[in-house]
Formats: sequence, C-alpha cells, structure tokens
Amino acid sequence: MDLVIRNATVIDGTRAPRFQADIGIAGGRIAAIGKAPKGNKEIDGGGKILAPGFIDAHTHDDRLMLSAPEMAPKVSQGVTTVVAGNCGISLAPAPKGMRAPVTPPIDLMDDEGKWFRFKEFKDYVKTLRENPPATNCALLVGHTMLRVQTMDDVERAASEKEISSMQRLVEEALEAGAIGVSTGLYYEPASAAPTEEVIEVCRPLSRRNALYCTHMRDEGDRIVDSLEETFRIGRELGVPVVISHHKLAGTPNHGRSAETLPLIEKAMRSQKIGLDCYPYCASSTILSFGRTQVASKTLVTWSKPHPEFQGMDLRDIATKMRRSIEETVGQLVPAGAIYFSMDEKDVQRILAFEHTMIGSDGLPHDAAPHPRLWGTFPRVLGHYANGLNLFPLETAVYKMTGLTAKTFGLADRGVLKEGYAADIVLFDEGIHESATFEKPIQAAKGIDTVIVNGQAVWRGGKPTGARPGKVLRRE
Ligand code: ZN
Ligand code: CU
Repeated sequence: MDLVIRNATVIDGTRAPRFQADIGIAGGRIAAIGKAPKGNKEIDGGGKILAPGFIDAHTHDDRLMLSAPEMAPKVSQGVTTVVAGNCGISLAPAPKGMRAPVTPPIDLMDDEGKWFRFKEFKDYVKTLRENPPATNCALLVGHTMLRVQTMDDVERAASEKEISSMQRLVEEALEAGAIGVSTGLYYEPASAAPTEEVIEVCRPLSRRNALYCTHMRDEGDRIVDSLEETFRIGRELGVPVVISHHKLAGTPNHGRSAETLPLIEKAMRSQKIGLDCYPYCASSTILSFGRTQVASKTLVTWSKPHPEFQGMDLRDIATKMRRSIEETVGQLVPAGAIYFSMDEKDVQRILAFEHTMIGSDGLPHDAAPHPRLWGTFPRVLGHYANGLNLFPLETAVYKMTGLTAKTFGLADRGVLKEGYAADIVLFDEGIHESATFEKPIQAAKGIDTVIVNGQAVWRGGKPTGARPGKVLRRE
C-alpha cells in the first residue's frame, strides 16, 4: 500500500450508514477497505470522517485550472473534481480568440480575453493534460461561446449554415473529451436562440450519449416554460439533461419550488434529468439593472471602471455617486453582482430534494466573490446537515459524490469502493464554512486532508503543491 488511513469513520458516498474502516491506497486507486496491511505512509484518521472527494457539479473553473492550478477555493473544501464550462461559457473553443472588451457573460471568465487562446477544444484538453491542476475535471462546451464566434449578430436565431458550423465545433469538443454542451439561454448572447436552434446545435450529443446542461431561459415568472423547454430538448435529443442551479428568483415566485420539484420528478419518470443547487439564497452573475429589480439587496462583486466599489452595496454606491440605481448600474458595467433574490424555504426544499446535487457556481475571478466559491460544500455539511438537520450527513455526502458521479457518468468516482480512483476527503464532524458575504475569501474549517488520484493536494490547511488532476470522460 502506498498510503493507509487508519481509524476513520467511512461515509462511502452511496447514502449507506457510516462504518469504521481503514482505507488503503495503491497506484492511485482504493486497494483496501476494512483491514489494510502496512502502508509506506500512514495517516491517523483520528476518528474523523473519510468520504469520497466531493464533485462540484457546477463550476466556472475553466481558467482557474490554468491560472491557479493549486485550486485552493476547491480543494480547501474537499472538492476533488469540478464540472467546468457551465452556463454557456467555456474557455474553449475560441477559434476567433476574444479581445477585450469580452461580451458579458463571457467576461466572468476573463474580461481581458487573454485566456481565450484555444482554437480547438482539443488544444485546451491537451494543455490541461500537460499542466494538470490539483483537481480532476469534466468539461462542457458552452453554446454562447459558439454563437458569439459563429454569428455576426447574436440577437437573432442562427441560420442553417451557422448551425452546422456550431455543430462541427460541438462534434470536435466531444471528440476531444467534453462530456456535453451547456447553455445560458437567460443571457443576451444566447437568449435569441429558439429551442429548435439549441436542439440542432446539440444534435451531436445524441450519438455520443453526452449531456445537456442548462442555465435556463427564465428562473422567475416563466420557470415552468423553461423547465418544459429543457425537458423537450432532452427528449428530442434522447440525452440526459441537467438543470443548473435550480432556484426561484423574485418575491412573487417565492415558494414555487413546491410546484417545480414535482414537475421535475414527474418528467424524470420518462427521461433522465439531474439538477444542482448552491446553499445560499443570493445569486451571483454579471450586473444588470433588471436583476437588481427583483432583489432585496445587491452587492457589487467587481467593476471594470470602478474597482473601488467592489464588495459594496449598490444602494450605497448610488448614494455616493448621487445617481439613480439605473444610472449607477450604467456607470459600473462591465461588472458583477450578488443578488438577494431567493427564499430560504425554496433553497432548503431544493437542497433536500432527493435528486439534487451540490454545485457551487463559484466565480473564481470576481474581486469580491459570492461566498459560495469557498463555502458551498462545508456549508451543506455543517449548516444544513449537522446544524439544521435538513438531511443526514450520509445524504449530504451522497449529493456531492455518488449522485453526482452517476448523473454525469463519471465511472469509478464518487464512491469509496475497492478499485475506484482514490479521490478522498478526511474531515472533522465540526466542519463549517468560513466564507461570508463580508469576507468571502476564506478557507473552510474542518477539512484535514484531501487526496486526488492517490496524492494529497491539501493538508495542514494549505495546498501541498501536488497536481494530479485528470480530464475525465463520460462513460
Ligand atoms: Zn448560470
Ligand atoms: Cu453558472
């Protein structure tokens, strides 16, 4: 055995009750569970909980994996795999490059365009293989990226010719290892795309049994239409769909998860559907006046022309600038924001829904990011499972491991089982997040050791420097 962890309580990622066991690791895989022979290295688990490394079902880490490959916001929470390329935004492909100013919401990834350097998806995958980050990843290709580079005008539906160009880019990405396509139909560069365009662009998914993940067209008044559109896309393509960061935005829609979850459950009887959620009742994306109107409070996370206002309440900025909210937004953009627009009861109902995975939706390049970037997983374990008893710790772990691996088709991950990849987190039962809206950049408390493919990437409260991450394919 290369490494043995003794004296730990195992939560194996299947929802089974915890049990006492040693875990032995050899050749990057789990080689023994129960009694393990002597290891070259041994870690005393000290009665802590040992679980499969967490899989972040929804991230925007495409660039972070290259620009900060130690992946501190993720490994500090016990995350060992990230699903990147969400909401229609991916770092690749960028056949035309992207010079500043980069179109919102693509600027969430890089507003200067310096990192959009991969003409083909395979160039990005190759770079990740040659310069691996600390975590594994599963990659989606973003529909918005394809649109802005294929079309001269994104405020209309794509022509047949443009659709076939986009199909070729999807085909190439899948060939290179992408597990599916993401859309951000809510956002301007994609909102003019009719359902039929999305279906046609995504045609290559069908043959390759890849996934469709979506930041839906509407997460407010027209949520039901958006769900139906998503189900239809999945049905017509015959592929699994994932509803990203399911939420109900705006006071008039509060409580409506009681309506959406049964609809999802019903549709699940005839097609494959997954969904993810982050454990906060504030959202975060680019700053837009419309969104401020359905929020009780808005915080500015970054502003290109006014970096001095990052982290501040929009109302206070407006007072300072002696302008209306609408004019202030106009002065601050391009910018990002946090919107307090959801109901805690909806968040809890969605988190507790049997099929909901945990995804951070963290925005790693924001100057004053939403605390979900550093806090999501410990908050679900510490606050929602241990604190509020919303579900047992075994269920919380399942929502961030076994369920996620199954939904995304990541073979031999997400469960502690002999022969499976040794992605492991050792944490204290008193785990909790430290990141807050006031002080968002803080590592969680209670994460002891994080192991990716058999190598420790986080230990003693800091990254070890190891970068064993792999690009995972869908099985
Ligand atoms: Zn999104
Ligand atoms: Cu997102």
